[in-house]
Amino acid sequence: MIKLENVTKTYRTQAFEVNALRGVNLEIEKGELIAITGPSGSGKSTLLHIIGCLDRPSGGVYRFENSDVQKLNDNDLAAIRNRKIGFVFQFFGLLPQISILRNLEIPLMFAEVWPPEKRRTMIMDILTEVGIANKANFAAGDVSGGEQQRVAIARALINNPDLLLTDEPTGNLDSVNSEKILSIFRDLNQKGMTVIIVTHDEKVARWAKRTIVLKDGLIV
Ligand SMILES: Nc1ncnc2c1ncn2[C@@H]1O[C@H](COP(=O)(O)OP(=O)(O)OP(=O)(O)O)[C@@H](O)[C@H]1O
Ligand SMILES: [Mg+2]
Repeated sequence: MIKLENVTKTYRTQAFEVNALRGVNLEIEKGELIAITGPSGSGKSTLLHIIGCLDRPSGGVYRFENSDVQKLNDNDLAAIRNRKIGFVFQFFGLLPQISILRNLEIPLMFAEVWPPEKRRTMIMDILTEVGIANKANFAAGDVSGGEQQRVAIARALINNPDLLLTDEPTGNLDSVNSEKILSIFRDLNQKGMTVIIVTHDEKVARWAKRTIVLKDGLIV
């Protein structure tokens, strides 16, 4: 499903250059359950953004389902992200001024034409699963950090992606909610979803079937 060959990523600003990834080689099969760990600044989010087609490598080749991401145009990449990939951002990336319901409805409407009633049912089902259905009509910016995290997880799952990429998905959750989210991920993985979790949490890393450790932009 995923193949990175000598992938590099350099962030350039006027004042400086940061080599966030310095030659990453990685293959991930469909159906894997993977944790990515490593110190702060080691390149975990950068790697996840590249895998999720949110950003392109500076060098090397990234193939997603055998297509070279460098050769796809922005529309192709947007379609892949919307249909095939669910992304839980480290800082959520919700639209704070609109309702939680609407935050989930937008990606759903881009993917497929469902009747409004059906959309509502799909959204309420997933919000119920992550335990936040009672806040569906709240503005996303008006709920707690842990609640926003669960909305972000629900949004990532709404289009039933083949690949779920999550950046510290349990970072703001208490142990009960963490367990709940991890068991949702495990169920989805058992049904065939490929799941990648960036985490600082040793417990979460041990729970995954494979762990990838990054240090200074390289897999160690
Ligand atoms: N947009 C950017 N512009 C410039 N430098 C960046 C940018 N994004 C990340 N970096 C730098 O790239 C390196 C890797 O960052 P990245 O966010 O991938 O780390 P991380 O492993 O996810 O860290 P954390 O655990 O703190 O989230 C860091 O040195 C960071 O400062
Ligand atoms: Mg990060």
